[in-house]
Amino acid sequence: MCKDSMHEFLQALPKCEHHMHIEGSLEPELLFALAARNKISLPSPSEDPAFESISTLLARYRRFTSLDDFLHYYFIGMSVLITPSDFESLAYAYFKRAHADGVAHAEVFFDPQAHTARGIAYETVISGFTAAQKRALHDFKITSELIVCILRHLPASEGEEMYRQCIPDMETGVIKGLGLSSTEKGNPPSLFKASFLDAEKRGFHRTAHAGEEAGVEYMAEALHEIHVQRADHGIKLVEDESVMQEFVDKKIMVTMCPLSNVELRCVKHVRELPIRKYLDAGVRFSINSDDPAYFGGYILDNYCAVQDAFDLSKKEWETIVRNSIEGSWCSQQRKTEMIALLEDVMRKST
Ligand code: ADE
Ligand code: ZN
Repeated sequence: MCKDSMHEFLQALPKCEHHMHIEGSLEPELLFALAARNKISLPSPSEDPAFESISTLLARYRRFTSLDDFLHYYFIGMSVLITPSDFESLAYAYFKRAHADGVAHAEVFFDPQAHTARGIAYETVISGFTAAQKRALHDFKITSELIVCILRHLPASEGEEMYRQCIPDMETGVIKGLGLSSTEKGNPPSLFKASFLDAEKRGFHRTAHAGEEAGVEYMAEALHEIHVQRADHGIKLVEDESVMQEFVDKKIMVTMCPLSNVELRCVKHVRELPIRKYLDAGVRFSINSDDPAYFGGYILDNYCAVQDAFDLSKKEWETIVRNSIEGSWCSQQRKTEMIALLEDVMRKST
């Protein structure tokens, strides 16, 4: 809970989460339980003492030194996911937790390449996630979408092959958009042009991690070369006024993840993030959890961290949440419902 008296208001806001990796919501309890059930051997404590227990693993998570240091644990963690029911349990646990934080709509990333490379069928992954989405809609009234990510540390041709496999599900809407994640530096957006421009031609939504560890030039490239409609993290716009203005003019949404940026040492403190600058300049952004099981907080913890750091007004939060709703990849009808929920919260809070 944040230190602020606004906590109840922040909890009640109808949040849209646009930037969370479903595999990054794998809590250590479930990780160890699935490893035992599926007979997956994790690194032994002599190889890596972090795997001694839940508490040593959680303690190691608090000492990430970089994106790659985190990704090492992220990919080991997801290796315990084998059956459709494992994927369903993972996603349902996230939706339940998100509901408690006041999430109304969630657009979640997933990484098929990390599963198919281990011999898990693409259909296994999709069937587990879609089962969880249906249950979350029924149990919590949370609407959700899937966004498939190309892993940029792997050859672009492998990402392209995976994207092609997803096209039928993208055409039916089972998958709502294409994303680009994993090691940013050295893997610029333009390497993935073929997949992204094909996705644009077919009318699919597109986003890419850009401006997390790398500079604003990756954000400009994401916009100009692969024609994204959102940029994930996107904390580097202040490095170039003209790129920032382009983001404002084209209403490109930035999906920020404050606690992630601190945990992965992109900034020392949430105070250093350009939240106030983006609000003043009219850059649209949402606030998200990225990999909540690894970064010590879900979406409401991220809202609270921003409130503690920037002391925003209720009016400013209304703008953030309205922009999050409008920047979502859901139907106009769902947006209208969420705007009504927002207006209700604003009315009751004055
Ligand atoms: N995959 C999961 N979390 C990520 C992050 N923060 N940046 C890039 N790729 C990721
Ligand atoms: Zn991310």
